[in-house]
Amino acid sequence: MEERLRFAKDLALEAGALLRQGAGRVTEIGHKGEIDLITEFDLRSEQLLLEGINQAYPKDAILSEEDGPIGDGDYRWLIDPLDGTTNFAHGIPIFSVSIAYTRGNQPLLGVVYDPMREELFSAAIHEGARLNDRRIHVSSTTSLNESLLVTGFSYDIRTNPDNNLDHFAAFALRTRGVRRLGSAAMDLAYVAAGRFDGYWEMRLSPWDWGAGILLVREAGGYVTRTNGEADVFTEPTSILATNGHLHDEMLAVLNRSAST
Ligand code: IPD
Ligand code: CA
Ligand code: CA
Repeated sequence: MEERLRFAKDLALEAGALLRQGAGRVTEIGHKGEIDLITEFDLRSEQLLLEGINQAYPKDAILSEEDGPIGDGDYRWLIDPLDGTTNFAHGIPIFSVSIAYTRGNQPLLGVVYDPMREELFSAAIHEGARLNDRRIHVSSTTSLNESLLVTGFSYDIRTNPDNNLDHFAAFALRTRGVRRLGSAAMDLAYVAAGRFDGYWEMRLSPWDWGAGILLVREAGGYVTRTNGEADVFTEPTSILATNGHLHDEMLAVLNRSAST
């Protein structure tokens, strides 16, 4: 497992370097949906990651954002070659590469790399979480009133009434603030590092959170669906990741009836 972690870190650094070179220099922006973009760098980074994994571990299955499922088997890589495409396409330097290695429904390794700040977040199951090889821990904030949260909105925000705007408003009134970074993998990594106290989002894909949830768990935090259920792998996935102390309070806000 140590060898695979080293491999995943090196691969993330390589893909991140490619994205760093491309930042602010996007020439091709395509649409996967009305507001769901894709750039040439999503594809180039994905290509680099797929080739790297196929070369080193040809028997492993892969689930990647742009190419979908490749191969099958119990052990699987989940990759998001560029998490934060909208930021990237607009020249905003907040994006990451996310790589997870899973067995069944269990993330075993997770790496999230922010190439602009050169922050490499990594975790191995039962081995703790690290930022550039320094151990990281979730925050110790115990009240929502003193918390800083982060969230995101899925690309169907215009058409799906379950669009998270009500939860966003509810938390904005109960916390020090709610941020929207635009990279789910970084949101989770920042919860793991104690920068945010909690994160929630609905309708995510496994490549968005595969690495990040292991980071949070290994940093001492707690992860469930937004309704409190433990199984985050059943799609469509919603994620609530907190420092543990705020979990119940956040669940109560997320699941309160519309009239209260
Ligand atoms: C998106 C980002 C964003 C989140 C969206 C994701 P992409 O991933 O993580 O923060 O709110 O739900 O789809 O498209 O940039 O890889
Ligand atoms: Ca993503
Ligand atoms: Ca992506």
